[in-house]
Amino acid sequence: MPDNAYKVPSAWSEREKLRKKGQFWTPDWIAEAMAQYVLCNHNNTLFDPAVGAGSFFRAANKIAKENGLRVKLSGMEIDQEVLKEARASGLSATDLAGVEICDFVFQPPSKKIPAIVANPPYIRHHRIPADKKLRLKQIGMQLLGKPLDGRAGLHAYFLMTALVSLEKEGRLAFILPADTFEGKYAEDLWRWIANNYALDAVVTFGPKASPFPGVDTNPVIVFLRNAPPRDMLVWARCHKPDAVCLRTWVRSGFAASACEAMEVVLRNLSEGLRTGLSRPYSSIASSKYVLGDFVKIVRGVATGANDFFFLTSEQIKRLGIPEKYFVRAVGRTRDICAEEITLEALNALDAKGRPTYLLALNNEPLETFPEALQSYLRQGEQMGLPRRPLISQRKPWYKTEQRKVPPFLFAYLGRRDARFIRNNANVIPLTGFLCVYPKENSDDYMETLWEILRHEDTLKNLPLIGKSYGSGAIKVEPRALEKLPIPDLLAERFSNPVQLRLLEEKSPYS
Ligand SMILES: C[S@@+](CC[C@H](N)C(=O)[O-])C[C@H]1O[C@@H](n2cnc3c(N)ncnc32)[C@H](O)[C@@H]1O
Repeated sequence: MPDNAYKVPSAWSEREKLRKKGQFWTPDWIAEAMAQYVLCNHNNTLFDPAVGAGSFFRAANKIAKENGLRVKLSGMEIDQEVLKEARASGLSATDLAGVEICDFVFQPPSKKIPAIVANPPYIRHHRIPADKKLRLKQIGMQLLGKPLDGRAGLHAYFLMTALVSLEKEGRLAFILPADTFEGKYAEDLWRWIANNYALDAVVTFGPKASPFPGVDTNPVIVFLRNAPPRDMLVWARCHKPDAVCLRTWVRSGFAASACEAMEVVLRNLSEGLRTGLSRPYSSIASSKYVLGDFVKIVRGVATGANDFFFLTSEQIKRLGIPEKYFVRAVGRTRDICAEEITLEALNALDAKGRPTYLLALNNEPLETFPEALQSYLRQGEQMGLPRRPLISQRKPWYKTEQRKVPPFLFAYLGRRDARFIRNNANVIPLTGFLCVYPKENSDDYMETLWEILRHEDTLKNLPLIGKSYGSGAIKVEPRALEKLPIPDLLAERFSNPVQLRLLEEKSPYS
């Protein structure tokens, strides 16, 4: 393990403070490899646009000492206070003398820089104030000719601003969350980067090598130069946190063959961009068939207050509400461990005290319901439920979202167990699942579809369309699941897959 192994504060308020400012420190084994890249090429200056506690400055000093060099340190930081931590970590006042207290994105350096290294603040778009968002949009317009999708976080603008601040042949190493490669805005961002800069290498991390253990992000390092674009790049995956291996490889210009801790491959840039650089090589990112050719995906029911709308049979009995006002439902993915969900399994959950009854009311006026139900709904009103964000959009507030029973469910967030489930219990899923509605409902079609959904060659493609989080978890959104590549050999088990797509048949479930 690296000697200053990264610690995540456990108290919620502490973590919240860090999230607002994006203050997560880079561990030494990563900082040293990144600093090594920008200091190669006989360069002896290093600029960090988000200095924080100074991981990159310490790394540069170490490299300088080892090689008998003098390195000039400079940078920016928005929070003066945090520099005290940098001092406490062993940096001198001279080391920090070149740090300006300002906002790197809105007050970038006026001169071009030869070497930039950063772990930019990971501030997601919903935490950026509206006036700043507007100014960020303008940066996108200026550089890309169109604004980046609104979901781009501050880190994406750090990367763009740093790239335009690089002098010719200047080098840049950034550690970024995977959404920079997988998010809605990634395509526009990377088209611009790939057309204007040389991407030398990308480093990703397996769950056991995560630079930020305990933080739910999947980090990726990019090594870029302000030089004409190249067709190929070196792509690596670290399986263990091995400082020597990573740094030796970087120092070799990414030429050294991989050691036990790392796997290294040469990739074509256009394939890498199509697949997403945070993901391993894939030959089928542009497959002939996608899941959306055969099914429609809809997210599960969002109640806005599961405690109120989602009950056990015991609770219903106690409240005296007739069962006909409920539908059977499942909430948590870990409540279903098997490949199929059956009525017996559902009843076993209920017996264990897990809710499986979802209140399913329509537009009827409250007064028309039996006394027990009326009194329960009035209780909900007293609790202020009708004013809650999601519930306040419903008219009347107690009318929950309607879904036809989906023949298949998809558990969409999981470590290794994002998977399809056959719905033999006619349940309606809540938001932990996606509903999968086949475009045809003949028995043959259902059976073929089920074979395809559970096939390992189909499941193998999930990382290609999912968003990756820390510890190997992936999350798949409904529209992304419709883009899941289905291997030709499997798709062709349907009697005429192409025709199916062309017919654009109306789903019997819509
Ligand atoms: C993820 S930390 C990284 C710090 C350090 N370089 C490291 O790698 O450990 C990001 C730092 O950026 C600072 N920051 C946030 N917004 C900034 C901005 N607009 N301009 C400059 N620094 C900013 C935060 O205060 C935080 O210290």
